[in-house]
Amino acid sequence: MIITLNDTIMKEEKIQLDFAEKLDFETKNKQIPENPAVTISNLNVWASKHHILKNVELKIPKNKITVLLGPSGCGKTTLLKSLNRLTDLDKELYVSGNIFINDEEILHAKKDIPEIRRKMGLLSQKPYPLPVSIYKNMTYGFKLKGIRDKKLINYNVELRLKEVGLWEEVKDRLHSSPDKLSIGQQQRLCLARGLTVKPHIILADEPTSALDPTSSKIIEDLFKKMKNQYTIIVVTHVLRQAHRLADNVVFMSDGEIFEQGSPNKLFKNPETQELKKYLVDGN
Ligand SMILES: Nc1ncnc2c1ncn2[C@@H]1O[C@H](COP(=O)(O)OP(=O)(O)OP(=O)(O)O)[C@@H](O)[C@H]1O
Ligand SMILES: [Mg+2]
Repeated sequence: MIITLNDTIMKEEKIQLDFAEKLDFETKNKQIPENPAVTISNLNVWASKHHILKNVELKIPKNKITVLLGPSGCGKTTLLKSLNRLTDLDKELYVSGNIFINDEEILHAKKDIPEIRRKMGLLSQKPYPLPVSIYKNMTYGFKLKGIRDKKLINYNVELRLKEVGLWEEVKDRLHSSPDKLSIGQQQRLCLARGLTVKPHIILADEPTSALDPTSSKIIEDLFKKMKNQYTIIVVTHVLRQAHRLADNVVFMSDGEIFEQGSPNKLFKNPETQELKKYLVDGN
């Protein structure tokens, strides 16, 4: 029997499709989330007497980039932390209200907190790769889930590293430490690691503040490409970045949401004194 190149390619594609199906990839990402991806209702966060978030009402559209803006200390990070229940880890914080992810209430859910967190990849200001090899960083999520299928794991390591444009840069040093990578590469590694557990939402808290302009642009371009598959919420202090990235802008000040809408509306016709002042100070 003569095996043509086409047969080989088709066979490889079949293997890849089987893998994707096994992990329920594309289907899951396309089915959910419904519009809006996140609905926040009457969210309040206190740290003893300090009222950090005040009656936050917010709808985050799915498959769009929402940029969260506001002065330092206004509660942006606390809002992201509430979304993936990291606020639970801080015993000083008291949280009330409701958060719905695709119509499922998550703020009061008693179980499955790891599952809630899995739906939201969190990217922080500074990349925090685990102190193990690049490969082990990428396989950590599978280990937690007890998945041992080497072929499946390796397929996904490559898929996710390609998704963040890092594969070519690391494929020959997968077993070395991520310490040797540039900060921009480390940030992309953390993003790729987050993607291995198939999140629906990416929460990015000033993800480019420690990066040079070239690495920042790579992350921005990635977000624009990835929004077809994920709902992305980005905190930034850089107004030009907000202009470049945002489909939807949310402006907060002192724990309250003041304005929300398209970048054109908010940047060209701010309605509140708070946003007007913020835009003047930031430019
Ligand atoms: N665990 C906590 N205990 C006490 N106060 C807290 C706690 N977490 C946050 N805060 C306070 O809540 C307010 C909001 O903090 P948060 O980190 O959410 O602000 P931010 O908008 O992200 O600021 P920045 O732009 O500087 O990152 C701040 O005054 C902060 O000191
Ligand atoms: Mg913050």
